[in-house]
Amino acid sequence: MRILVTGGAGFIGSHIVDRFVSEGHTVSVIDNLSTGRIENINREAEFYKMDIVSPRIERVFKKERPELVCHFAAQMDVRKSVADPVYDAQTNIIGMLNLLENGLRFGTRRVIFASTGGAVYGEDGPIPTPENFPPKPVSPYGVSKLTGEHYLFFYKVTYGISHVVLRFANVYGPRQDPFGEAGVVAIFSQKMLRNEQPVINGTGMQTRDYVYVEDVVDAVSTSSYTDVSDIFNVGTGIETSVNELFRLLAEITGGHVREIYGPAKKGEQARSCLNHDKIKKALEWEPKISLREGLTRTVAFFRERL
Ligand SMILES: NC(=O)c1ccc[n+]([C@@H]2O[C@H](COP(=O)([O-])OP(=O)(O)OC[C@H]3O[C@@H](n4cnc5c(N)ncnc54)[C@H](O)[C@@H]3O)[C@@H](O)[C@H]2O)c1
Repeated sequence: MRILVTGGAGFIGSHIVDRFVSEGHTVSVIDNLSTGRIENINREAEFYKMDIVSPRIERVFKKERPELVCHFAAQMDVRKSVADPVYDAQTNIIGMLNLLENGLRFGTRRVIFASTGGAVYGEDGPIPTPENFPPKPVSPYGVSKLTGEHYLFFYKVTYGISHVVLRFANVYGPRQDPFGEAGVVAIFSQKMLRNEQPVINGTGMQTRDYVYVEDVVDAVSTSSYTDVSDIFNVGTGIETSVNELFRLLAEITGGHVREIYGPAKKGEQARSCLNHDKIKKALEWEPKISLREGLTRTVAFFRERL
């Protein structure tokens, strides 16, 4: 299959490129390297350094004619989206439309879209939150991701381009940078490995659903080989507090650190956790890697990089 991965130099996108290359597909990557790294890009993939908003992406579609587009490029900084919602919308809405319009012209049949459970559902959902809870995003980033989901529905109904929307929980693993939605794993691990003292924001009682990147790649790969068009949560259904995460990482890194608390981050969500029953039933996906195992692998990666 001819597959285009946007954001293929980034944390999750680069792991997806690796998987598709290893499965023998013809893979191309569009990435502007704003947060991605050139060294993450698989050498077997054709790389185009471009912004998804640029009209230049037309020539990529013309040349590569991707049957499948995995759309992972995004402005994904929640605070930046609040500070500059226009920039967020330009990348996450206009950039996505630019891809979809080119896909339509050059034969794309299917899109896998990286959406977000954490930012789309808002604060009030039941825990773990199922897909049918009405989204109430409280950030421009959540709004722009949800808008992307609506556009995909339009392209399916109107032009027959099928899609799977994957609403990720907090993804962590090798190649992650210390920013982004699950940046806390990268921040804590790297500081502990350097014997620096990390600071826990607020009480540390806030919870997240941490899903390992390899499990996420499995969900993307499985979604690519079906005809299903739907929205699925990709999370573990297990809540972990920042305090628990801190203790686990301290044990795994062997770092000599104490639990030190700083001021709470303004507007930070208290709890977030996704129900994955729907994708388990429809696509037989469920997470395989435990938090301890995933963190051990992640710490090993950072240890080697240091
Ligand atoms: N990491 C998580 O926990 C998480 C959770 C929910 C959803 N997501 C979504 O998954 C996707 C990948 O996230 P990630 O954690 O790998 O982040 P990342 O920052 O590592 O990857 C994003 C990639 O997109 C590229 N990019 C950004 N803007 C671009 C533009 N305008 N044109 C071309 N390339 C551009 C960046 O250079 C980077 O390589 C994003 O869409 C994000 O919203 C991530």
